[in-house]
Amino acid sequence: HRKYRPAPRVTGFDRTWPERDLTQAPIWVSEDLRDGNQALLEPMSVDQKKRLWQLLVDVGIKEIMVGFPSASQPDYDFVRWLIDGNRIPADVTIAALTQSRDHLIDRTFESLEGVDKAIIHLYNSTSTVQRERVFEMDEDGIIDIAVEGARRVKANAEARPGVHWRLEYSPESFSTTEPEFAVRICEAVMDVWQPTPDDRIIFNLPNTVEMAGPHHHADQIEYFCQNVKNRESVIVSVHTHNDRGGAVAAAELAMLAGAERVEGTLLGNGERTGNMDIVILAMNLYGQGIDPELDLSNPDEIIRVVHECTGIPLHPRHPWVGELVYTAFSGSHQDAIRKSLRKQGEDEPWQVAYLPIDPRDIGRDYQAVIRVNSQSGKGGMAFLLERDYGINLPRWMMLALAPHVQAESEKIAGELASSQIRDLLFSHFSRR
Ligand code: KIV
Ligand code: ZN
Repeated sequence: HRKYRPAPRVTGFDRTWPERDLTQAPIWVSEDLRDGNQALLEPMSVDQKKRLWQLLVDVGIKEIMVGFPSASQPDYDFVRWLIDGNRIPADVTIAALTQSRDHLIDRTFESLEGVDKAIIHLYNSTSTVQRERVFEMDEDGIIDIAVEGARRVKANAEARPGVHWRLEYSPESFSTTEPEFAVRICEAVMDVWQPTPDDRIIFNLPNTVEMAGPHHHADQIEYFCQNVKNRESVIVSVHTHNDRGGAVAAAELAMLAGAERVEGTLLGNGERTGNMDIVILAMNLYGQGIDPELDLSNPDEIIRVVHECTGIPLHPRHPWVGELVYTAFSGSHQDAIRKSLRKQGEDEPWQVAYLPIDPRDIGRDYQAVIRVNSQSGKGGMAFLLERDYGINLPRWMMLALAPHVQAESEKIAGELASSQIRDLLFSHFSRR
């Protein structure tokens, strides 16, 4: 049924990746209050933004995009609420997004009057389709837009010398931009901003619409890292969206390819299919023994606040933190978990079948792991009886009890609590 041929991918690459490994967390950047908010049917109220802001600070995100103050009065007011109320912790830097247009850049700086430090995030679109079909400009025309904006940013920053300004530029739609052109336009911005290794600028490379696999995106990031001049004066950042379901994978591979900074949202809200989910990526690192340097010890609080602020509920099978992630319904899984838990020593590396981490690490309780319903085998019920009542049934008795447990859970079409299993045991095997 295909009507159009797919758009050609930008430059193919030789697959010559060296062996790489992740050793440390990236610089995390929250886009919840901007990309996330902009994608909601009903944008957040000021009160919701305040709650989400507090959550982001509590989780430990140190760079927080607070909005598009030049384009949105509520965003402007929110920025003022933060600054006028002295609400930005000393170790947190806020970021404000602006298109590359003089009056928007001026208004962005105006909104930030009185701030100690801030990131000015300038962007313009660079992809072939944007150049040809939206802006109807050639490459030089698009570079002019970026350079003019960069100059205006610089002039505004120089007019406010007491502030620590950090400068960020995004060639928006980077991943559908020819890699050589992406480097060229960033270098043109660099020539204006003149960064040094002690005062680095940020080049944020958005996967604005995810059109290719994460390996392809990683090649693009690697190409950029290897070819941009003055690399030591640049922080390479990625901003991935989830159109193919690969936002986290793309960000993770991008880190292997050289990116040092990652923009995303808590639990993945954002335009269309969402932004990269910071919780998943952080937990992926954690699961590999890398400290994500975020406090994810209370995911239920994150889930609650994000839901309250976005209106979007969490899928129960959401990676790492969904309600059903640490449950096992199948009998063989339950049995394997029970056996592994018995052998798991307190100080040993975690090695439990079907449980990638100790659920207690994120405030979940593995006591809830085993649930007994009509699908489960004998392992689950034995586990619950032993755990909750110290009843260690001989094998013949387990075999005899199992059909009763199965029949009862079929009858109620649901799960049985350990007390119900015990009642079944006593009713079918009464003591004389
Ligand atoms: O997805 C995107 O390209 C963006 C930019 C404005 C950074 O959100
Ligand atoms: Zn985005």
